Amino acid sequence: MPSIKIQTKFLNSFFPANQLESNLKKSLAARELLDSKSGKGSEFLGWVNLPKSISKSEIEKVLQVSKQIKSSSEYLVVIGIGGSYLGARAIIEANINSFSNFQRSGSPKIIYAGHHIDSDYHKELLDFLEDKDFSVNVISKSGTTTEPALAFRSILSLVERKYGKSKLNERIFATTDKAKGALKKLADEFGLTSFVILDDVGGRFSVLTPVGLLPISAAGINIEEFISGAVEMQNFIESTKNPEKNLSLYYASLRNTLYQSGKKIELLVNYNPKLQYFTEWWKQLFGESEGKEKKGIFPAGVNFTTDLHSMGQYIQDGLREIFETVIRVESANQNLDVKEFPGDPDGLNYISGKNLSYINSKAIEGTLLAHYEGGVPNIEILIPKLNPATLGELVYFFEYACGVSGYMLGVNPFDQPGVEDYKNNMFALLGKKGFEEMKKTVEAKLNSLGKS
Ligand code: PA5
Repeated sequence: MPSIKIQTKFLNSFFPANQLESNLKKSLAARELLDSKSGKGSEFLGWVNLPKSISKSEIEKVLQVSKQIKSSSEYLVVIGIGGSYLGARAIIEANINSFSNFQRSGSPKIIYAGHHIDSDYHKELLDFLEDKDFSVNVISKSGTTTEPALAFRSILSLVERKYGKSKLNERIFATTDKAKGALKKLADEFGLTSFVILDDVGGRFSVLTPVGLLPISAAGINIEEFISGAVEMQNFIESTKNPEKNLSLYYASLRNTLYQSGKKIELLVNYNPKLQYFTEWWKQLFGESEGKEKKGIFPAGVNFTTDLHSMGQYIQDGLREIFETVIRVESANQNLDVKEFPGDPDGLNYISGKNLSYINSKAIEGTLLAHYEGGVPNIEILIPKLNPATLGELVYFFEYACGVSGYMLGVNPFDQPGVEDYKNNMFALLGKKGFEEMKKTVEAKLNSLGKS
């Protein structure tokens, strides 16, 4: 049995019961599309069976390479963007002590590159790495994505200068397509150890492949526990036919019911800053999968109680189009009690002796009730604690829910055609071969906008 639970007491009265009933039925039909591989985008369903299908030899290879990286490097530069980066960062940051500089002893600190094109960041990174021992994991399924490809160019030349061409294969590890793409070509040319991204697994569903597993393992996190959590959830989802009991089907049904009731924005809420990048991963998963054909819930995220002091006003009192999905970690650290303060200058002695995690739990309950009464429904996702296994459960739970939810919405959850538009304009403006005609059009459009 997985350890995650869903609670819905802060949803009462936001929609009629029969509307949820009808969506629960629809979730079964959507599930059937996933399982029979007969829905839109069915050529990208390799992730459905991933937890159970990862081979022992693949895990061994990841462990062996991460051992090599640990023994040679103070830093591991992970180059990738979107689905080729967010999953690893989500799991790493959720498992690492924030005050050990996001680093586990005996493991390199993970640094990210190629997840944007900011020149300050990348120049500072290159200067920083000059006198450090580092390895590189360059991750790109297509091998042609501009942001990581640009970062890789400059970091490759630094590695070559620092360690010599003959040592490239000791320092650079590629995760890419098995046969095609620029990165595959480079990996072959330099004899790099490479990991394969399967054809039928899209970027945002790839954290349980070497895309996520190598950086996570190099960061010192137990990937076998992470995978076993995902397997646990896969087994549960597969064997639970009742959609109300099936966590992913239930969540997909709830969020679609809320969407149909006018709640167009979903906020993923955490009360633990380590989950900030998990939220980023979740935003991509749902945003890129569902935001199509002028429909889809807009996925956003907030970190509480921090953001209660910035976004709290809007959530409580602004446009009533929001619902929240709250990840509650049930057993946070119990070892920090509030001290008695002589004279009680800040008025907090009434909670002296109480544990900080108890106080956080009261902040959660108070917020849930306030938002509920203010017209914001809340779905609660309870997880007993934050560790690789529970995160594995959470990852598969959300992935499966996303597939089901996208089919319930009637879109293809596994493509991302809209991402090409900015790329094409950028290629045209940069003068890429084949975009000559488009360059004139794009420049003319920009100029005409500039005049008005
Ligand atoms: O989920 C996706 O498909 C995207 O976010 C891609 O992962 C992202 O664009 C990076 O692509 P690639 O791995 O080809 O560099």
